[in-house]
Amino acid sequence: MDNWAEAELAWELANAISASLSDRARAQLYATLGSGDSYTAIDTVLQAMAHQVSPMAPELVAQLANWLDAYTHSEDAPRLHELLRAIRALRWWAVEDFATSAEGGYSMQVGDADAGRLKLLGRFYDPNSAAFLEAAGVAAGDSVADLGCGHGAVTDRIAARVGDTGTVYAVDASPDQLRIARAALAHRRNVTFVEAAVENDPLAGVRVDWVYSRFLLMHVSDVRRALLAMANMLTEGGALLWEIADVGSLRFLPESPDSDVWRPWWYALGRARGAAYDVAERIEGFLDRTGFTIERCDRYQPVAASAEAKLVHALGFDQCAPAYLNEIGAPADQIDAHYGFLRRAVNDPTIMVALFSNTQYIARRR
Ligand SMILES: C[S@@+](CC[C@H](N)C(=O)[O-])C[C@H]1O[C@@H](n2cnc3c(N)ncnc32)[C@H](O)[C@@H]1O
Repeated sequence: MDNWAEAELAWELANAISASLSDRARAQLYATLGSGDSYTAIDTVLQAMAHQVSPMAPELVAQLANWLDAYTHSEDAPRLHELLRAIRALRWWAVEDFATSAEGGYSMQVGDADAGRLKLLGRFYDPNSAAFLEAAGVAAGDSVADLGCGHGAVTDRIAARVGDTGTVYAVDASPDQLRIARAALAHRRNVTFVEAAVENDPLAGVRVDWVYSRFLLMHVSDVRRALLAMANMLTEGGALLWEIADVGSLRFLPESPDSDVWRPWWYALGRARGAAYDVAERIEGFLDRTGFTIERCDRYQPVAASAEAKLVHALGFDQCAPAYLNEIGAPADQIDAHYGFLRRAVNDPTIMVALFSNTQYIARRR
């Protein structure tokens, strides 16, 4: 990009962003432009845009990427790339708008991106979890531990099933997750919240009729230890109720070169973090070796073309992208290519997503 084109881009960017700047910042930006320092002006705009809430026009993002190519070898390049990535990811999916329009009056927690993702995810998985609890026979008066309860979406359904004569232990290792669960379930008298890792005897010796967990085991580092801990929480005749996600089973249909790049990064990240992201492939062996018999096993994989379904993946990918880049060395251009694919796919009704499969197990001791 020559100096003239760089100056033109700087002016275009400044005009695009000026309305959202304070008087002082705007005056400074135009003074920088006036002095001919286009590079500093573009840098200033990038920094301001990265902290904005509204997305930048895709044509401008493309021009910025082109401009950055000329500075690939400069010391500043990693920082500028990071800003550009933040801008690209910037709420282009407007998840709050989707959530509001789809549920009418639903309001999402500001700044809590994962709450948004989990609520979307719940639309695709919660009804099936409810059917699972019913099929298993969870009934009024029962005691249930919900391990890795997260924000409590299923805990709430369990609490409703067991009623006031039943007991639910909502266990999570994260105080932040429990804070949200406590607020959401404030109306439930039969739920006791426990902040602890599943491996560390969270019920302190208390035994329950059902040990339930959804999408937990892939996050633990020692699955066998977690399983033994769960077995110790069960009464004689009690059962494990597990819902196991296989995130790697997610596919876009039709596939395209940029739709699948994330999958090896996902597994590599699991290995780097010592988590069991591939647990779905190994779970039946674990159960067998620990003395459990699988009484029932159902697999469920939602397939949809709706924007909401694709957002489930987009939001998850966005959360993982910095780790893909920094922890396992995923190439920045491929990460950007997947963002580009998602931006096209989200609102394209001809592209479907088969979300990750969920396998439901009812297992009892032999
Ligand atoms: C993917 S979320 C699932 C939340 C919830 N079960 C659901 O399906 O909506 C996994 C949850 O497990 C929790 N978690 C991860 N490792 C844990 C551990 N070792 N012990 C207890 N909770 C854990 C996380 O804090 C998170 O809330």
